[in-house]
Formats: sequence, structure tokens, C-alpha cells
Amino acid sequence: MDKRRIILFDTTLRDGEQSPGASLTVNEKLVVANQLARLGIDVIEAGFPIASEGDFEAVKQIAKTIKGVTICGLARANEADIDRCWEAVKYAEKPRIHTFIATSKVHREEKLKKSKEEIIEITRKAVKRAKSYCDDVEFSPEDAARTSLDYMCDVVRAAIESGATTINIPDTVGYAEPPEFADRIRYLFDHVPEANNVIISVHCHNDLGNAVANSLAAVKAGASQIEGCINGIGERAGNAALEEIIMNLVTRKDFFNIEIGVNTREIYKTSRLLSNLTGLEIPRNKPIVGANVFAHEAGIHQHGILQNRETYEIMKPDDVGWTGESLVIGKHSGKHAISALLCEEGFHLTDEQIQQITEKVKELADKQKLVERDDVIALARDVTNQLTEEEQYVKIEEFAVFTGSNMTPTASVKLRVYGEQKIASGTGDGPVDAVSNAIWKVIDPSLKLMEYNLKAITGGTDALADVSIKLSDESDNIYVSRALDEDIIKASVKAIIKGINKALNYKERMLTK
Ligand code: KIV
Ligand code: ZN
Repeated sequence: MDKRRIILFDTTLRDGEQSPGASLTVNEKLVVANQLARLGIDVIEAGFPIASEGDFEAVKQIAKTIKGVTICGLARANEADIDRCWEAVKYAEKPRIHTFIATSKVHREEKLKKSKEEIIEITRKAVKRAKSYCDDVEFSPEDAARTSLDYMCDVVRAAIESGATTINIPDTVGYAEPPEFADRIRYLFDHVPEANNVIISVHCHNDLGNAVANSLAAVKAGASQIEGCINGIGERAGNAALEEIIMNLVTRKDFFNIEIGVNTREIYKTSRLLSNLTGLEIPRNKPIVGANVFAHEAGIHQHGILQNRETYEIMKPDDVGWTGESLVIGKHSGKHAISALLCEEGFHLTDEQIQQITEKVKELADKQKLVERDDVIALARDVTNQLTEEEQYVKIEEFAVFTGSNMTPTASVKLRVYGEQKIASGTGDGPVDAVSNAIWKVIDPSLKLMEYNLKAITGGTDALADVSIKLSDESDNIYVSRALDEDIIKASVKAIIKGINKALNYKERMLTK
């Protein structure tokens, strides 16, 4: 029997980015999209263009840059969303508009307050409008897994009649059980014969831990597109983990008899890259990409592995691009070792960036006996996220902080804002709060500090401080920035100033359009 081809649809940059704390800048999204293309993903859902200017810009840049992959944008089933989505995806070699409306009883009655007939009418209009721009239109009846089977079929029929080329069946709240979800897909094929002429896709959330199993059960029932996210990130418990789907299809090809166009050796890098950029850590026991996946602790297992790896390993580390963390970095490490380690971590660096990181590693090794892998990654993140001279509308010239017991922490700052010197002082609950309050006295008050996180990378009291912050502006655009220093206050000031510059750069770019 001929192998079926399954389309892999990655929504890391849209649904995945909805994970709390996972927001990425436009440039970071471009880096991830490039890596997804290297991995061999067929469709990249790059964002939700109407959601914010930043989302729009990211989808547009990805559509302009990434070749050979379908670039998709999400739109609710209304004209404004669909028009905005097309404005962003139209630059792609292969654009797709993905439009959706909820169909389950609870969503219809409580959220949309619309009748079944009204929803079918909205579906028809939305799909037709999307089709007037673009041949490739995907439609999703949101919360399909909790929609009555007959009504789901009615909506799907209307979407196909109106021109949808892909019908996606989402388990929006991760409610389905695998055999039940497979039955739903079979029911669809049996009751909507037109479904055989389009691509039937599935999009499963992981609230009960069934996302991957439900997606694979649906493939067995005839679905030919699977949607998911790298590392399984996404709303609440996340989406189906794409690397798990891929390795199921590859490792058990005897069972699935499926073909996919993926280079599995890029999996590990893709996973690490995403984790490095979002700061969302990968659990050590996470299937396929966790640090323990190829480690064998028990004596019996070690003995078996030494005789023949197949005794306890169903995949080879090599298959997923895992080369082992064998590189030890110290002050004598050269550019090649550092570059090799960072390449394993998904970084694609210029010679100049490698040189800068190498110098910083040596400086750190002089102070701290051991430089760990996480230190090198943090330094690389810091160097690759530097703003150019022209992008720095605000510069810190000097600052001082006074703190101690029985006193109110006080700070003074001297900044250069658009070339003009500004001096301010402030107090706060702690030294970081005081310096942040001082900075904010001279900065556009529409920018708000939403989140502040501090992490000690490795080591003890001399560890590197890794500060990440989130700012928002008056249009609710989010700017994420991160900075590294041995001094917590310096790292905080650097991160805040970098975040402010990112926001100002964005505003300047919008003004010159
Ligand atoms: O989970 C969901 O239903 C979605 C749709 C927009 C496809 O993300
Ligand atoms: Zn979703």
C-alpha cells in the first residue's frame, strides 16, 4: 500500500506564543520560523495579525522572508480580521488564511450568543471573503470536539461549499479521548462526502494529557494534517508536541505507514532554540527532547545498552540531532568549542558574535572557576539580542543606588534620551524598584513595566544574574527584553533600557511607514 503524506502544521508562533511568559519579538519569531523551515515543517502559522501591530509585523516579515513553506495567519470569522490577515500573509510564496468560529453549544450560547443558523451564515461569508484573496483557506469550527456531530458536519459542509481547502477539527479544551476523537473524524468522512476532497486537519490541546494520542488516533482515522507546537507549548497545558508527533510517525512507520517531509536531525536544535528564546524550560523527562531521554541510570539498563543499544533505546540520539553534552567550557576554550556548543543549542551566529561570546566566556572563567553550559547560553542570548548604536534612543550614562537596613532605597540616574541629557531620582521598595522608578520619571509614561524576572544562572553569590522584563505600550503591544550581568542592579537597568529601546524602535518604524 502506498504511503500517505501527512502535512505538519506548526503553530508555535501563534497558539504556542499564547503560553504565559512566551512572547517573542519580531526578530526572534523570524529566527524560529527559519529553524522550522530547516526542520521541514509544511505550514507555519506565524501569528494572529489583527491581535497587535507586533503580531502583524511578525507575520508580514515571515511571509516576506521564509521560502518553500506555506505561511498562514489566523483570523476570526469577520471581515476586519480576514482583511488584516491577508495584508500580512499576501507576501508569502504560499499564503494561507485560517479563519475560525466556535460551534459548541456552550460557545454558541454563552460566548457568541448566536443561533446555529447564524454561525453557518458567518462561516459561509468568512470563508468566501478569505477565498476572494487567497486559494488556500483553512476553516476551524472552534471547540469541535464538544460540538454535536451532526451540527459539526453541517458547519464543515458549509465551509467546504464556500471554498475552504483545509478543514481543521480542534479539540480546543483538550477534552477528547483518543478512540472517541478518531470516531469523530470517521463520522465526518462518512457523513460529509466532500471531506474526501479537502485536507482534514486536527488541532489538539493537552489539558488531559491526550493531545499527541488524539492527533495520532485522528491520523489513523484519515486526517492528513496535524497541528502542534514545538515542546508542546501553548495555552494552558499546551498543544500537541510536534516533535513527539514526528517521532511517533517515524519510529512507528510500521504502524502508521505515513510519509513526512521532516529532517528529524533538526529536532533537538529547534527545541533548544525555542526554549532559549522563550525561557520556557524543557523538563528533563520530556519525551524526545528532555535531557534524560538518552541517559541510562540503572545498572541492568547500562549493561543492556553496552551489549546492544536496541535493548533499551527505540530511537538513536543521532536521529533527533542530540549529540550529547560532552563539551566542557573553560578559560582555555576556543571559538570552535563555543561555536559547536551554541550550534547544538540552535544558535546561528556570525563570526563577530562568536568572537564576542568567546571573550565574555574567558572573562567569566577568570572570575568563576567553572563556566557551565547555561552560562554560555545566557551570554549568547545577551550578545545576539544587542541593539545597534542607531537603535539606542535611550542610553544610560550613569546611575547610583543607595540601600541598607532602616533606610528607603534611593536611586539617581543620568540618561541620554534622543540625545538630550535627563537626570532623575526615585525611591522604591528595594534597589531595583528605586532605580526603575527613577528611570520611569523621564520615560514615556504610556510604557508600563508588566513583568520582571530574575534568575541566577549557575554558581553561588558570584553567579550571572539573568533579568527578563516585559513592557507594554498604549496599544497593548508587548516588548520583551533580557540582560545579563554579575550585578543584579546593572542587569536590571540594562534589561529595562533595552526594553524601552525596543518599544521606541517599534514606534519609530511605525511612524516612518
Ligand atoms: O484551539 C483552538 O480551537 C484554536 C483555533 C483557533 C484553531 O486554536
Ligand atoms: Zn488552539
